[in-house]
Order: sequence, then C-alpha cells, then structure tokens
Amino acid sequence: MELFKTYKLWDIEPVKGLDTTLWDDKGQVYTDLYGGHAVISVGHCHPHYVEMLTAQLNKLGFYSNAVQNSIQKELASRLGQVSGYTEHSLFLCNSGAEANENAFKVASFHTGRPKILAFSKAFHGRTSGAVSATDNPKIQAPFNKNSNVTFVPLNDIEAVEKELASGQYAGVIIEGIQGVAGIYEPTDNFLRSLRDLCDKFGTMLILDEIQSGYGRTGKFFAHQHAGIEADIVTTAKGMANGFPIGGVLISPKVKAEYGMLGTTFGGNHLACTGALAVLDIIENEHLVENAAKIGERFRAALEGHHSLKEYRGKGLMIGLELKEEFIGLRDRLLFEKHFFTGAAGAGVIRILPSLTVSEETADSFINAYNELTK
Ligand SMILES: Cc1ncc(COP(=O)(O)O)c(C=O)c1O
Repeated sequence: MELFKTYKLWDIEPVKGLDTTLWDDKGQVYTDLYGGHAVISVGHCHPHYVEMLTAQLNKLGFYSNAVQNSIQKELASRLGQVSGYTEHSLFLCNSGAEANENAFKVASFHTGRPKILAFSKAFHGRTSGAVSATDNPKIQAPFNKNSNVTFVPLNDIEAVEKELASGQYAGVIIEGIQGVAGIYEPTDNFLRSLRDLCDKFGTMLILDEIQSGYGRTGKFFAHQHAGIEADIVTTAKGMANGFPIGGVLISPKVKAEYGMLGTTFGGNHLACTGALAVLDIIENEHLVENAAKIGERFRAALEGHHSLKEYRGKGLMIGLELKEEFIGLRDRLLFEKHFFTGAAGAGVIRILPSLTVSEETADSFINAYNELTK
C-alpha cells in the first residue's frame, strides 16, 4: 500500500531533535523556527517532557473515559490557573479541528440556534463543521458547503452586527491571530466590540487559540491582549508539544449533560501527562515572557526591512510579507542556511518557533536573513 498523497513534501527527513535543533537522516543540522506548524512549544525532546511521558508510559498508557482519571483533573486545574480561565470547564479531545467541532456543538446546544459566524480567510480545521467555517472553498467538499456558516470581513464590526441581529447565530468563531491566512490580527477594539455584540444578541464568542495560544504571543491566549474573556476557547497544537491533544474551555454558563460530548481517546493518560509537562516547563522557564522578549528582538531587526512589504504578528507568531523580488526566500533559508520556517502562500514567511528559542538562535536567523537579502 502507498500513502494517500496529501502534502507536497520536502526531501528531508528529520530523525532527531533537541530544543530548536533538528538533525536529518544524512546528519545535516537544521534550526527549527516553525515547530511543525506551531506545535513544538517547549522544544524538541525537552528532558522534563521526556521523563514525565516515559514514567507514565511505564505505569499506564491508556484507559477510556468510563473511569476516574486524576491526570485529567490536574490538567484542568493547572490550565485554569495558568490561563486565568479558572471558572471555565475543560473538555479534552485529540486535535484542533475536533476542538472547534465540539465548540460549535456546545454553542448550538446551549443557544438552541443553528448558525456560526466566521471571518474571511479563517482556518479552523478540516473536519466537517470546522472546514465549513474555514474560508477556503478548495478544501471544502460539496458535503461541507452548507448554509449554517456565514463569513464576514475581519475587523468589520458593522457586518458582524448585521448578521448577529438575525438571532440565528449560536456562535462567532475567531482566531486569536489568523495563522494559515498569513498572520492577520483582529484589533483590540474589534474584539471588545465583538464581545459586546455577542452579549447583546445572546451569541457565544468562540476564540480559536489553536495556533495563537499557549503563550506564543506573550500572553497565554492572544485575545487576552484585548482584555476580553471568551465563552469558549479552543486549544491544541502547542498543548502537549506534539502528543496529539485538543481542549475546549467552556463557560460556566453552559450546563453539561451526559451524552452532549464524548470521545474515546480524548484526555488519555499520555496526552494529559504531555500537557502537564508542557505547563510545568512554560511556568518554570518563564516561556510566555520569553516569547514576548524574543518576539521583540525579531521585530526590532525585521520590521521595516527593505525585503518586506509588512511585518505582522505578536511575540513568536510572526508573518513576514515579502516584496515580489524576494519570493523564494523561504526555500533559500532552508537549503542554503538550514532554517525551517513556515509559509502562507508564496509571499509570506511564517515564524512560529518553540517558546524556548534563545536570543542567539534569533540572531543567527536574522544574520542569515540579512545575508540572503543583501
Ligand atoms: C487556527 C487553527 N484552528 C484549527 C486548526 C486545526 O487543527 P488540527 O490540524 O489539529 O485539526 C489549525 C491548524 O493549523 C489552526 O491553525
């Protein structure tokens, strides 16, 4: 059997990693400033993470959600404290798309309404409801195109108000910072007005923090820069540093009922242990502060750079929109200077490193970048 071809692959196979360094099968060393789509939050093979997962694997790898699991309870409590969402409750699942899928269900069960409002260029995942709320017709099968999702432009509060006034919307979903689109931010004022409109029309505000959360922007969740609280927050990616897990933080105003949500693998012992290890490391190594600090270093060196149309983002969620003559730079960074970065189309480089990234590593990237754009 061959693999189903879904991605265009580079001919590189990483076989070993340590913090922000990767080695391929030929012994070539790379610096990882992408973390496999913003997943590596505390560095590859962090010793504390490896130790906790190894110890748990030697005790119990899995049991289903029919029995008590104190690791889940500890994760909920710790995540509440670290994020400030102490009164919300936590539903655990296995991926970002699944987290959004469950967020839509919760909003719809709670309000009794069918519709979701989403934003132009949004990406919320590839499962049925999540891809319906993703503004990319190329990845929606006919089955996914339905009238329950409407898109309005980001930062257009009048368009939001016009839709919500219909009383049909269970939820509005918005990324803390749009990632796949190429790093576009909702303004703080827009988020605050969105919060007010959701309250006015009885619609649940769903913050997709799957890419922008977990400390990446210099606050635990990106929307916290605007000082608002969401009814539902979805997380995944950096949550367990690569061990599959997703989470839905749900407002105390939603009453849980048996059967409303469920999963076989969600909240399993290994995933929760990985997530606890990540929270330990984020706290012990002050990684939210490091994300803000190193983010400023990238900004100071690259904002206004002659190669860029625009520098976008916050902390370690960075989009570099290249001028036409520099398109192709991402491949050169990889093949000539051995830096992994991400992309959004051909024109935007995305930098989404582990939150452990050091000043030296940031500087070595900036030097390589300057040499290639001389
Ligand atoms: C903002 C956002 N939401 C949802 C998803 C989907 O997450 P997953 O691939 O884990 O299903 C992604 C993935 O890139 C994302 O960036």
